[in-house]
Amino acid sequence: MTASHRIVLIVSGGIAAYKSLELIRRLRERGVAVRCVLTKGGAEFVTPLSLAALSEDKVYTDLFSLTDEFEMGHIQLSRQADLIVVAPASADILAKMTAGLADDIATTVLLATDKPVMVAPAMNVRMWDHPATQDNLATLKRRGVRVIGPDEGPMACGEFGYGRLSEPETIAAAILDALKKDTAPKRPLLAGRSALVTSGPTHEPIDPVRYIANRSSGKQGHAIAAALAAQGAQVTLVSGPTRLDDPAGVETIRVESAQEMLDACRKVLPVDVAVFAAAVADWRVEQAADSKLKKQDGSAPPTLSLTENPDILKTVSSAPKDRPALVVGFAAETGSVVEKAIAKRGRKGCDWIVANDVSTGSGTFGGEDNQVHLITPEGAEEWPRLSKAEVAERLADRIAAHFASETDKPVLIQKG
Ligand code: PMT
Repeated sequence: MTASHRIVLIVSGGIAAYKSLELIRRLRERGVAVRCVLTKGGAEFVTPLSLAALSEDKVYTDLFSLTDEFEMGHIQLSRQADLIVVAPASADILAKMTAGLADDIATTVLLATDKPVMVAPAMNVRMWDHPATQDNLATLKRRGVRVIGPDEGPMACGEFGYGRLSEPETIAAAILDALKKDTAPKRPLLAGRSALVTSGPTHEPIDPVRYIANRSSGKQGHAIAAALAAQGAQVTLVSGPTRLDDPAGVETIRVESAQEMLDACRKVLPVDVAVFAAAVADWRVEQAADSKLKKQDGSAPPTLSLTENPDILKTVSSAPKDRPALVVGFAAETGSVVEKAIAKRGRKGCDWIVANDVSTGSGTFGGEDNQVHLITPEGAEEWPRLSKAEVAERLADRIAAHFASETDKPVLIQKG
């Protein structure tokens, strides 16, 4: 289990809320990142400060807090989690979940999420036994919500019966089990396929210490390499200079310039699919200086004479031999993104192109999200704004489906 597993823990009202502190401790010990949402009722029993101290993260308490929404909207909160856990889950929050109410940040996250949800109910035995609660539970189970507990035993109110929150260790074990199942590798649809991915910027030297570069972080390209590997492909990533770690299970070749990137790509061919997500510099300095250019008082600044870099995507797309069966380019555009990308697809000779808007403020270069259109010979599809990992997963799924349909195509038998 790695810290890349993240849950959102919703702590709702009830005396058992104090057990959520122990639950966080046990999850953190096992490397699970926990981001807490505290309901108004929950805040009567535990403080945001204690949740923040144990989770080592911000605690979300107010749907209409402008700061919270600016930093991390309620949609984003659930998007970044592998699992949403409500512990303790009061009778009230279970009823709201069933009815689809969204009147605070906890219920809004629960209504807006498409991630798996687990609840650990805790309430008075009579509330638990009430047909309304039991009906609500049945509905939630039918919708796929996992239910842990409650346990039987003496209660804070002096009664005895079902309604005690399960022990933190039991809930933690159920969470770990769910995370393992939900994040287990999918059927490797690209097993036996090979892939080349380019990522990051290129650095074009001016002299030994200076270079021309751009703002690409490599996040999108690296995520695509990881997503293709997760689908079972044998992936080689050719990456320009980035601060990112090499993705697990991917052979990574690090390069600096466009020419080095092209040379490395050529060595990787042949492959079944190639995805060109790198932001390759279009130009380089014609003659990079061997020694550092010196600033001299009174003299004019040096003039840099630029020359065109090789176009890696175009070169690979038009390779007479070793052309990958599927070549996917990216198009970083500003304004009329789709039209420009369709034209670029034609010019570059690739099969698909992923168009993204990189105008100032879009946050695409270097940011966490990307809003893209996938352009194929069949047309342009608009995808919602997604994290770069989600864009990568969708693209890998589409690539896998493309190869699956190729395999499924009937073999034409030549007549005569
Ligand atoms: O790295 P991130 O911070 O995560 O940001 C992701 C991204 C914005 C860099 C990525 O999503 C993206 O759009 N990559 C392509 C950027 C780009 O250079 O676009 P372009 O329109 O200039 O180039 C079109 C295509 O030709 C791209 O596939 C590019 O890799 C390729 N190209 C361009 C020039 C060149 N000399 N050789 C190439 O192969």
